[in-house]
Amino acid sequence: MPAIIRMENLTKKFGNFVAVDHLNLEVEEGEILGLLGPNGAGKTTTILMLATVIRPTEGTAYVRDYDVRKNPDKVRELLGIAFQEPKMLWVSTPWDIVNWHAKVCGLSTSERKQRVKEVLEALDMWDYRRRNVHALSGGMRKRVELAKVLIQRPKIAIVDEPTAQIDIVGKHKIWRMLKELCEQGTTMILATNELYEADVLSDRVAIMHKGKLLVCDTPKKLKDSIVGGDVVEIQFEADPSPKIVEKLKQFKEVVKVVKSKSSMLRLYLNKVEEVVPKIMGVLMKDGASVSSIRMSEPSLDDVFAHYTGLTLEEAQKEGG
Ligand SMILES: Nc1ncnc2c1ncn2[C@@H]1O[C@H](COP(=O)(O)OP(=O)(O)OP(=O)(O)O)[C@@H](O)[C@H]1O
Ligand SMILES: [Mg+2]
Repeated sequence: MPAIIRMENLTKKFGNFVAVDHLNLEVEEGEILGLLGPNGAGKTTTILMLATVIRPTEGTAYVRDYDVRKNPDKVRELLGIAFQEPKMLWVSTPWDIVNWHAKVCGLSTSERKQRVKEVLEALDMWDYRRRNVHALSGGMRKRVELAKVLIQRPKIAIVDEPTAQIDIVGKHKIWRMLKELCEQGTTMILATNELYEADVLSDRVAIMHKGKLLVCDTPKKLKDSIVGGDVVEIQFEADPSPKIVEKLKQFKEVVKVVKSKSSMLRLYLNKVEEVVPKIMGVLMKDGASVSSIRMSEPSLDDVFAHYTGLTLEEAQKEGG
């Protein structure tokens, strides 16, 4: 797939402070690229440069072949953006905002009428369509912001923390809608600091920290890249024989075997899905009595901690 967005040494300084630091990253046509990072990592600043809201200090980005510095108007034609902090005129209502946006995007009157209703209903905002926006809750305001992108169906959608402040039922609905949008041909950049959101939606995840790109790959590959990140716990009926322990240590994927009290072995390994059948083979051959086996893969939390060197708690503190 060709790249639809190319960032080349994209950099933003605010005074002496480097918010985005020589970012080189490509977004492929049709993919959802998750931009993940703790508070202050530079996600929003990156997005605002792509959306031509702020100018890069150094380097640039190309959307299709348009340079964000030289052809901002062309870039804007291809983009739809849902901002992290929607700025809304306090005199308007959700219906006015979304209808106006649909008009700007060139939808005909009849099309507009139907689509505005559809989208506001899908976002559970139809009943609030006449409410003054200052009387909306934070989550409702986010929904109105997202409605703009869903109405527009842009070639490239940029969504910044799309489900922050939104309740859990709403989150699932919105994730489904964003996926559907991409199935219809939209390419998406999703900035989030919610690891689960990045995991379920993204084809690839780019992890940023302090303005720099640390790593970018599919969630699966990122998880697999953590050596010994998978864990298998085997609970034996009685202490396993040293022979079994030795045999389990022989597998090249097994990084560490830890024997714990109450006849349990904990194995740290790679590629859990490939090794478990082999482990079962060893246990059966030796006639070991096993009462349970539990396995877990690393989550994106582990990936995040691995690459940023921060636990989530520390990351949140750091962003402060
Ligand atoms: N207009 C500005 N002037 C000065 N500093 C800024 C400005 N905008 C952003 N910054 C700083 O740049 C850094 C990156 O901010 P940015 O909003 O891009 O982070 P983020 O990754 O989107 O974080 P969050 O998860 O909190 O949304 C932060 O340290 C922020 O304080
Ligand atoms: Mg942000």
